[in-house]
Amino acid sequence: MKIMLPANSKMHSTAFTFGVATASFQIEGAVAARLPCIWDTFCATKGKIRDNSNGEQACEHVKLWREDIDLIESLGVDAYRLSISWPRVMHQDGSLNPQGVQFYTDLLDELIRRGIKPFVTLYHWDLPQHIEDNGGWLNRQTAYQFADYADKITQEFGDRVYSYATFNEPFCSSYLGYEIGVHAPGLAKKAYGRQSAHHLLLAHGLAMKVLQKNSPNSQNGIVLNFTPCYSATDSVADVQAADKADQYFNQWYIKPLFDRCYPDIINDFAAEDVPIIEDGDFDIIAQPIDFLGINFYTRAVYKADTENGFSQIDMAGKPKTDMGWEIYPQAFTDLLTSLHALYPLPPIYITENGAAMDDKLLDGKVDDVDRVKYYAAHLNAVNDAIEQGVNVVGYFAWSLMDNFEWAEGYLKRFGIVYVDYANQQRTLKTSAHAYRDFIRARK
Ligand code: GCO
Repeated sequence: MKIMLPANSKMHSTAFTFGVATASFQIEGAVAARLPCIWDTFCATKGKIRDNSNGEQACEHVKLWREDIDLIESLGVDAYRLSISWPRVMHQDGSLNPQGVQFYTDLLDELIRRGIKPFVTLYHWDLPQHIEDNGGWLNRQTAYQFADYADKITQEFGDRVYSYATFNEPFCSSYLGYEIGVHAPGLAKKAYGRQSAHHLLLAHGLAMKVLQKNSPNSQNGIVLNFTPCYSATDSVADVQAADKADQYFNQWYIKPLFDRCYPDIINDFAAEDVPIIEDGDFDIIAQPIDFLGINFYTRAVYKADTENGFSQIDMAGKPKTDMGWEIYPQAFTDLLTSLHALYPLPPIYITENGAAMDDKLLDGKVDDVDRVKYYAAHLNAVNDAIEQGVNVVGYFAWSLMDNFEWAEGYLKRFGIVYVDYANQQRTLKTSAHAYRDFIRARK
């Protein structure tokens, strides 16, 4: 089973970056060595995680990180995208935790020694619990605390980091975490969703200034996720519904970065749902970025709904991943070309793309042909966008290895490497071999 791209694809060039991605809470374990975060609390709340699991062990990456770097190196990737656990590197009083800092410094040094570029995300959802206790992302002050954390940690890392992302998917933190409550901290109110989103974006802008000052030679930006919105029919009402959903779920997070405002749908909000925006906020948010990280998994289809304006329809009978997400690679090309048309984009890294599949370890092998097909189709979709003029310069597979999939716990496997949680043994799946062979063939 092979991943094939057209012979003339720019993605065959070694100038194109290929990597694998992970996130701190999902793999690290070693919770006793850091402050509690909102995901520890959420996991401890009954009924929030499908298998009642938590991050206490995860992939025990803090213990096994050297072996994990061996694994990454064995894949032949150019880059590794990881995230820093804020509660691991900072004490509650706002000073750095030297032990936590050392963990990442050693990791970064080892990656560099092996010629693997570190792509570091500063926030992948693990807010220190004491900050949440003070209002979390509903409190404007959190944005300034984030900038302070960014300032201190980037000074420590010096010039080790090839690329910094301020945030991973502010949509998930705000909408899933504060608006519908299926992610930590589990609050559910439209006004909370919109206000937390604004503070996350503000924090991004404040931190961008810090990054450009402390780490001017790294590629600094943000990672956004997009679920392109399609209309169920060609009716005017459905087309409008899909457009509104797109404004609400997707454009909300990118438009302020370039256009210094929220999408028009904000004018439909009840007064109490409109976020508090201070003078000058959009100027802070719209800092120039060196790159935009895009995470893509699936699309969504909408029809008009008199109550909410739009409602998502289930694509029954269509091919889906183990998450129940429709497999629709054309949406990836459509997304990239449409963003390219709408905004003056900097170079784009696909910072996440991948699929959960119902993997089985049989005789020491995981033959995840379905995942290989997913990768092949989506890499080709990216290539189509590049051919249409979109400046995509890198691609990261989500994920390096199976890990804690948030509200789904350990029930969903996104890795190209299989993790047996009983003994922490890692096994390269067929997709890992295919990805490695594809990357090797470039050179
Ligand atoms: C994401 C997250 C990952 C998820 C993945 C699959 O950015 O949404 O970065 O943590 O595991 O997306 O849901």
